[in-house]
Amino acid sequence: MLFEQTMHTEQYVFPTDDRGRPAVIDIQNITKVYRMGDIEVPALRGVSLRVYKGEFVSIMGPSGSGKSTLLQILGALDQPSTGSYYLDGVDVAKLRDRDLATIRNRKIGFVFQSFNLLKRTSALRQVELPLLYGGGRDRTRRARAALEAVGLSQRMNHMPNELSGGQQQRVAIARAIVNDPAIVLADEPTGNLDSRSGTEVLKIFQEMNRTHGITTVVVTHDPFVARHTDRIIMLRDGVIVADQAVPDPILAGTVERPSDDSQLDNVLKDVYYAGKQEEYA
Ligand SMILES: Nc1ncnc2c1ncn2[C@@H]1O[C@H](COP(=O)(O)OP(=O)(O)O)[C@@H](O)[C@H]1O
Ligand SMILES: [Mg+2]
Repeated sequence: MLFEQTMHTEQYVFPTDDRGRPAVIDIQNITKVYRMGDIEVPALRGVSLRVYKGEFVSIMGPSGSGKSTLLQILGALDQPSTGSYYLDGVDVAKLRDRDLATIRNRKIGFVFQSFNLLKRTSALRQVELPLLYGGGRDRTRRARAALEAVGLSQRMNHMPNELSGGQQQRVAIARAIVNDPAIVLADEPTGNLDSRSGTEVLKIFQEMNRTHGITTVVVTHDPFVARHTDRIIMLRDGVIVADQAVPDPILAGTVERPSDDSQLDNVLKDVYYAGKQEEYA
């Protein structure tokens, strides 16, 4: 921690939560305006958010509320129009494109809805890819360890088309964690999966978070998925309208998905359905 601090920052002091955990993500008053010809589309209208080391957070909200925009900014794929962003102590707003790419590779692991795996490339090679970029040594050993961590030691030489959807997403998670990133960002990671595979993937995220302390932010429109995380942030019209701890997160695989959304916990009745239920994607 101290090492990182002296490496990357002159004045920045890591904010901490009540447990003394430093903020991995620290955004203050972020706005994002997309311009389409003469029209300005305000996608984020003043978002402040801290995510602390070791948290497992979900971001929810109706379609068009700014979830993807926020995740792109968090992932240093895009810059905000105004506001500040410190990622693991690094002032992202000051970085040039080349440095942004470096920061992304070193500090962020991405998991996408559609897995984004290369065809005709074995699980092991996929997971080695992020390590090629940094010229890291020990690539194969580290890739094997990541695949073992997601329970795929028996599938290292399989091609994506020889793996189930859940297994493909686990390869993607191994690829996201192999670099030992400061944070893993996932956009609807169970969106393309049936419920059994979705549970398999949630189990891995939970285990990575709880056992390996990997800070994780998941965008989801699925309240059942959000109930597996420790904290739910709700966006609406480009602002955060709620930010709540989940009192008793579901342990993946121990609870059947309720057949009726109304059976979901109060935290979601209060938070998720605070607006009109039909609005939520
Ligand atoms: N590249 C873009 N150009 C113009 N408008 C955009 C662009 N991306 C998103 N928007 C607009 O910004 C708002 C937020 O979009 P988005 O972040 O994709 O929301 P969500 O992921 O919650 O559905 C929406 O009004 C959307 O139409
Ligand atoms: Mg989106």
